[in-house]
Amino acid sequence: MHGDAYGDASYGFGSYGDLHDDAYGGSSGGSSYGDAHGGSSYGDAYGASAYGDEGRGSAHADGSGAAHPGLTGTEAPGAPGSTDAAVTGAATVDAVERAGPPADLIADFALPVPRTLFLELLGVPAEDSDRLHHDLALLLDFHPRHVEQQGAFERLDTYLGALVADQRRTTPDTVVGRLIRAHGTELDDAELTGITTQPLLAGYATVAGTLGLALLMLIDDPGQAKLVRDGDARPETMAEEVLRHLSVVAFGKVFLATEDVTVAGVRIAAGDYVLCQLPSANRDPALAPGPDRLDVTRAPPHHLALGHGAHYCLGAEPARMELRVCVPRVLRRFPDLRLQRPLRDLRFTPLNAAYGVEALPVLW
Ligand code: HEM
Repeated sequence: MHGDAYGDASYGFGSYGDLHDDAYGGSSGGSSYGDAHGGSSYGDAYGASAYGDEGRGSAHADGSGAAHPGLTGTEAPGAPGSTDAAVTGAATVDAVERAGPPADLIADFALPVPRTLFLELLGVPAEDSDRLHHDLALLLDFHPRHVEQQGAFERLDTYLGALVADQRRTTPDTVVGRLIRAHGTELDDAELTGITTQPLLAGYATVAGTLGLALLMLIDDPGQAKLVRDGDARPETMAEEVLRHLSVVAFGKVFLATEDVTVAGVRIAAGDYVLCQLPSANRDPALAPGPDRLDVTRAPPHHLALGHGAHYCLGAEPARMELRVCVPRVLRRFPDLRLQRPLRDLRFTPLNAAYGVEALPVLW
């Protein structure tokens, strides 16, 4: 598809085959798109599926996955990022039950789960949680509020910079502390601050959006909810289907062609922009028959909700864990979960880094 969002020389791809096999560097091996922000050419690494067939790892093509302990989801119990989703999910469901009904499953559940996990992974004191939430929410909001957003970014950068400096002295058992122990001064404080900031920005609204919408869809579809509640849908299968179906990174990935290339029969010149529409690819009937239907027992297809290739989502495993643990837990704890207001009265967040529902008032 030839679009004009980025001027004449821009292209949008939204079919699964075009994106996975060509534009997104699946089998073609030689597609050389640089990241529109960085302008680097991925070349072979991007084409050659750097993380194995399933795309389940979080290691980067350059081997830097080793620099992200705590984000693999395969660590020993007790290590940051492994069992924490279960503990956080359980504690948060308990808190919802104690306080309600009613409850807002966004403010009271979908946001606190990733937030609590991050605070623990990074070693952020609980009392700083609210101000971090405020600044993250501002930064993830796509309504143009440049001055406020610049202020939020500076505050976040200063806060995380101080956290890194402190953890360089104390090397606690956090993501940053472990990186310092493993890499010493190879990673300077500015790099560590960047490493800390990126998952916070990328992993907060995405998880909250997916969790909230998944619960909304299941409340609205009692048959599917029963499959999850009764264990007839495996949590792994349900999580993949929810990721595919919702595809909350709705704006698409923008790439800059660093050399002339042909994708799905379309000639793209060096310097052209390419927009990869992940939600559209994930609703391609070639990927999943009846793609608009949520089917929590569907054999999980290789969807693109977490991206693909060298920049595949670094937090894929924690994200999966949070969904696998938390969605069934809520449905089992509250078998009579229902909306407090009609679905048509709910407000969604189309102009946000991740699609979601603003509030999800429920009763049980
Ligand atoms: C349901 C939850 C999530 C969704 C749907 C999601 C989706 C995505 C997508 C589509 C990308 C772009 C991949 C690409 O460019 O090919 C991405 C990248 C990324 N994600 Fe996630 N993500 C989720 C959760 C998380 C979590 C929990 C974290 C952190 C713990 C995280 C950290 C990142 C980072 C750091 C990147 C950038 C990777 C890079 O550019 O190399 N994400 N994610």
